[in-house]
Amino acid sequence: MYSSMEETRGNVLFFVVAIISAMPSSSVSSLLEYPSFRSPVSNLTVAVGREAVLNCAVDNLSPYKVAWLKVDTQTILTIHNHVITKNNRIGVSNSERNIWHLHIKDVRESDQGWYMCQINTDPMKSQVGYLTVVVPPDILDYPTSTDMVVDEGSNVSLQCVAKGSPEPSIMWKREDGEKIRFQNGSEVPSTTGPILNITNVKRDHMGPYLCIATNGIPPSVSKRIKLVVQFAPSVYIQYQLIGAYDDQQVTLECFSQAFPKSINYWTKDTGEIIPHSNKFVPEIIEEGYKVTMKLRINILEPKDYGVYKCISKNSLGDMEGTINVYRIPNPNQYLHTNKKQQSEDNTPFDSNNYKYFDDVRKSRNDTSKRISLEETIDLQSYHSPNSAHHVSDINGFIHLFLISLVIIMQFTHQFPTHILMNIS
Ligand SMILES: *[C@@H]1O[C@H](CO)[C@@H](O)[C@H](O)[C@H]1NC(C)=O
Ligand SMILES: *[C@@H]1O[C@H](CO)[C@@H](O)[C@H](O)[C@H]1NC(C)=O
Ligand SMILES: *[C@@H]1O[C@H](CO)[C@@H](O)[C@H](O)[C@H]1NC(C)=O
Ligand SMILES: *[C@@H]1O[C@H](CO)[C@@H](O)[C@H](O)[C@H]1NC(C)=O
Ligand SMILES: *[C@@H]1O[C@H](CO)[C@@H](O)[C@H](O)[C@H]1NC(C)=O
Repeated sequence: MYSSMEETRGNVLFFVVAIISAMPSSSVSSLLEYPSFRSPVSNLTVAVGREAVLNCAVDNLSPYKVAWLKVDTQTILTIHNHVITKNNRIGVSNSERNIWHLHIKDVRESDQGWYMCQINTDPMKSQVGYLTVVVPPDILDYPTSTDMVVDEGSNVSLQCVAKGSPEPSIMWKREDGEKIRFQNGSEVPSTTGPILNITNVKRDHMGPYLCIATNGIPPSVSKRIKLVVQFAPSVYIQYQLIGAYDDQQVTLECFSQAFPKSINYWTKDTGEIIPHSNKFVPEIIEEGYKVTMKLRINILEPKDYGVYKCISKNSLGDMEGTINVYRIPNPNQYLHTNKKQQSEDNTPFDSNNYKYFDDVRKSRNDTSKRISLEETIDLQSYHSPNSAHHVSDINGFIHLFLISLVIIMQFTHQFPTHILMNIS
């Protein structure tokens, strides 16, 4: 085994020997045209693993020779048609028009650098070209975050580290296309940088995130990191009071959120779980951490009125919501068989009672009219007599007229409310 130093020295020595042996006699050389470069060595960018070919075009070469060198290590790679280096990925070829091709197979990142094309004239002639080796991005497993389970309210830091050449940039987005919400209220479809900090993480942050590394060299790569946010159940009820009548079918509804998944059930009075039966039909609709709990009660009987509880439990806690189902008279019976109902019905909410509420509603409407009327009068009294002049006198007259009209119409029950509004 040679050390690289010895190898270089050996190569240089070989080149020197080669130069000497290739030296034309002085008498011949004076007759020949001197060699020259036809064009510069063009720079080259190659993706790692591919083949790089650097070209050096020379005019009037004979009887001189072309060598390729790697500048930074000062290694002679090829001389004429011979490969000098022990690197078996290096090759050389030349085409008829005296273009000398340096081939580097299976390019590595270490191959990046300056390459020199040299002609063994005295003094020697040379030119250089730069080989750029690009590397598509690669996400490093070890420093990059894996799936995470955190408690709601905690701070999360997702990390993604990628290598590649040029240096890759990292973008974060949610796989489901939702925006990423920050505590300061900003919402973004994506964010850049190797670290994604989410302070005070919320349940709606839960989901898979993608870290995407790009550097312009295909293919871009991504890693999927699942963020799981756990929290104790919460329960929300839209209708806590449900008036229903005998024989009716009602459905109670309860919305719960929990993660890990909760156990959800309904109870009544005794606290025992209401099982599925002909009368009670519980139903659970799950959508991620959101659960809709329904309880259908098929044919209400007097014993079915009362307080129902929907209960949601997980490892972090439990939560219940209550719904009160109370009895009201059957409105259809009231409308259609008023007389008969009155004689038969002995519930506290009898039809007379029902009628009473109706009366209240009527009188409320009357009240609102009265209030409007008073406001009109107030407006009138606001015009002080001192500041009164012609115009306000006319206004006063119009007001007086309208108020009379209002009072008259009140009596005849034909008052159109929109006129009132126009006055005030
Ligand atoms: C090659 O790139 C270098 C800089 O990296 C530049 O100075 C030189 O002019 C380039 N050569 C050609 C032929 O484009
Ligand atoms: C999360 O970070 C914020 C601000 O950086 C800090 O005020 C808060 O105490 C942190 N919360 C926890 C649970 O570490
Ligand atoms: C909100 O916070 C995020 C990350 O902490 C930051 O990138 C963004 O610029 C902030 N937005 C505003 C409006 O302050
Ligand atoms: C993310 O949070 C860590 C602390 O948890 C902090 O050191 C870092 O500077 C933050 N990075 C960004 C980009 O906000
Ligand atoms: C009371 O007003 C409401 C709307 O404001 C109306 O629907 C209802 O019919 C009114 N009732 C009576 C008794 O006028």
